[in-house]
Amino acid sequence: MKRRNFIFDIFSVGLMSSLSTKLKAKNFNFIPKVRSISTWKTKEANHRAGLMLDKGIDGLTAAVAGVAVEEENPKNSTVGYGGAPDRTGKVTLDACVMNHLGDCGSVLAVENIVNVASLARDVMEKTPHVMLAGKGAENFAISEGYKETNLLTEKSKEDWKKWLESEKYRPIINIENHDTIGMLCLDKNNNISGACTTSGLAYKMRGRVGDSPIIGSGLFIDNNVGGAVATGLGEEVLKTVGSFLVVELMRQGRSPQEACEAAIKRIVSSNTQENKFQVAYIAMNKNGDVGSYSIEPGFTYMDYFRGQNKEKITESVF
Ligand code: GLY
Repeated sequence: MKRRNFIFDIFSVGLMSSLSTKLKAKNFNFIPKVRSISTWKTKEANHRAGLMLDKGIDGLTAAVAGVAVEEENPKNSTVGYGGAPDRTGKVTLDACVMNHLGDCGSVLAVENIVNVASLARDVMEKTPHVMLAGKGAENFAISEGYKETNLLTEKSKEDWKKWLESEKYRPIINIENHDTIGMLCLDKNNNISGACTTSGLAYKMRGRVGDSPIIGSGLFIDNNVGGAVATGLGEEVLKTVGSFLVVELMRQGRSPQEACEAAIKRIVSSNTQENKFQVAYIAMNKNGDVGSYSIEPGFTYMDYFRGQNKEKITESVF
């Protein structure tokens, strides 16, 4: 072998090996970090979404399908079918969705329709509007082929009748009476979307709407930064536009954990309520890092990552 060719061969082998190391490193970085997180012990819902993400399904479809598990679960008295009614005995549902493009849809105080997160998606995709409320939202659902369902189960009716005996309004939200499923999904294209759905506070005044269907309060996504969802006493989340705040804090360089902590502390520092109440946030950034924080102990969330769906305990202020 001529000296020139030998040197060339050595050089090209070296170049190829360094190129392949670089490519491997690059590919390693590019392994899509699929992740799904959801509020409270919503194991099956988060698992459904996580499996869909693993198959390459987009984040919004996975989030809407995931939260549908709880909307259809009659044992969950804070979401969808079987949700606790307002003080007049009517079950009214609130929900919203937001995708990686910044599009959003929302429905408020909807009766007789189970899958309101899906309905919120239809508002986003099939109407010129972002929010539809009450009868208008219900009529739109029926025109789109949704089935009318009486959302008040025998169990929630019995509980409501018992409540009527005292009529004490004490919105206790925590592990034993958790409210709202909020879910964030990071898909294989590195896009974040989310969904949030609830029947709101048990025995609320007729017409009361909380944070869950309000874009920026119950849910906010900015695909350049990440996403956040809230759970807990909606009145307190609304006052600080909580999910938007968490995302903006991440934009300023905070980790999801730091952002959730700062947003919760903002509520606590400006609190004028005498009664104890719960609010919690979960958040995820574009790297797939997650965080969560709550006011009171007892909040947990589900985290589907690399094929494992784990319940995680959150730290709290008190
Ligand atoms: N976080 C749900 C509600 O307050 O309605």
